[in-house]
Amino acid sequence: MEDNVDVIMENVTTLLSFRDKHATRLGGILGGLTASVYGLWAVFVFPGFCKVPWRLRVPFLPSSKAQVQNVMKLLEDRKGRLVDLGSGDGRLVLAAASRGFQSTGYELNSILLAYAKTRRWWLGIPANLATFMKQDLWMADLSGFSNVTVFLAPGLVTRILEKKLKDELPDDARIIVCRFPFTHWPATCSEGSGLDQVWAYDIQTIKKQLPKSK
Ligand SMILES: C[S@@+](CC[C@H](N)C(=O)[O-])C[C@H]1O[C@@H](n2cnc3c(N)ncnc32)[C@H](O)[C@@H]1O
Repeated sequence: MEDNVDVIMENVTTLLSFRDKHATRLGGILGGLTASVYGLWAVFVFPGFCKVPWRLRVPFLPSSKAQVQNVMKLLEDRKGRLVDLGSGDGRLVLAAASRGFQSTGYELNSILLAYAKTRRWWLGIPANLATFMKQDLWMADLSGFSNVTVFLAPGLVTRILEKKLKDELPDDARIIVCRFPFTHWPATCSEGSGLDQVWAYDIQTIKKQLPKSK
């Protein structure tokens, strides 16, 4: 009887150590897989972002068709150069350029930049009307633009951007913001609804209505 218990205990111990070994190996494999998927994701979503602080990194999410149309409506009757901050696959820049705006896209993701340039070629839009630049939007000088389009993120990104725009843009500038409205600024007008809603902010109004600090 005692012998049987010993044999059973031995078998259980062997089974448990076998399971432990495999559980550790499985954990290692899963960890490795997660790291590889994250690495791949980071390569495609955040290439070129190493100098941008984590809190300000915004991933690529393209504007919907309705969103692009809403932005174009708020650009009607506007003049001057346009910049899209974080131009992604270039859809806003190309839509604005095809309406006659001299447009620039600032983007850090080289894959998206290459795609945008290919689409520009495919649509037959001259490079001097739609320019795509590998440029960190936080480091860019925005003083030469009268029209700015923004589809980034809520929270900190918006708060820091509000200050940069107010400090750098000329008085006649209009900023059109997609999906995440500015929290401290009164909008001049808005177009669309739900996820496709966009808001226009005129710098002249902002400077008149808000104290210097905001
Ligand atoms: C939500 S997507 C919007 C893309 C495009 N504007 C549109 O409406 O379809 C934000 C884009 O901003 C880019 N981006 C984020 N941070 C940036 C930075 N610091 N400098 C330049 N581009 C940036 C991302 O790579 C991404 O393509």
